Amino acid sequence: MLLHIPGLFSREEVLRIRKALEQADWADGKVTAGYQSAKAKHNLQLPEGHPLAIEIGSALLDRLWGNPLFMSAALPRKVFTPLLNCYTAGGSFDFHIDNAVRQTKGSPERVRTDLSSTLFFSDPDEYDGGELEIQDTYGTRQIKLPAGDLLLYPSTSLHKVNAVTRGARYASFFWTQSLVREDSQRALLFEMDNAIQQLTQDVPDHPSLIQLTGTYHNLLRRWVEV
Ligand code: NI
Repeated sequence: MLLHIPGLFSREEVLRIRKALEQADWADGKVTAGYQSAKAKHNLQLPEGHPLAIEIGSALLDRLWGNPLFMSAALPRKVFTPLLNCYTAGGSFDFHIDNAVRQTKGSPERVRTDLSSTLFFSDPDEYDGGELEIQDTYGTRQIKLPAGDLLLYPSTSLHKVNAVTRGARYASFFWTQSLVREDSQRALLFEMDNAIQQLTQDVPDHPSLIQLTGTYHNLLRRWVEV
């Protein structure tokens, strides 16, 4: 399931973050790539532990844990510290599948990557190219979202970032370990939760809502890993 989560950061916040990113000292993105993906990866990245990356990352984590759409769709167990990247001057990242496990530098904490996320800090008209291209069960999708918006997609999918031929594409990216490992099960729970939320608004006193909500939790109980 691919999901667009709008407005995690406001326009003013995006502009402030962008200004800081434009003045930051960037490093070669190969530092966090594996042996194979280093050959495919041509971009810039803020080094792990960079004060600006920590600041933006923790603000982003706060927003995520307070976002009902993210909570319902991702059912997060833990989120890997967000990283920041910049694609410019022909920068690209060829087709790859993200590593299955991520470990924060200097920490024993490991995250199984069930879901990948990209939060855009540049608007689509500020750069040419730079589409996030994802091979989905329904075919290939090319995605560019407004600044402040997030794309959530299964880490099992093959994806790439097309070359940026004009301007710069700033983004944050990170991985989530979900309480529910299987994408299909997570998607089913998300759809059911949406339907329950809608019914709760439309027919709040319907007695079957209790049964339906109970069934949601009984399915979750069957699949959850805590
Ligand atoms: Ni990737």
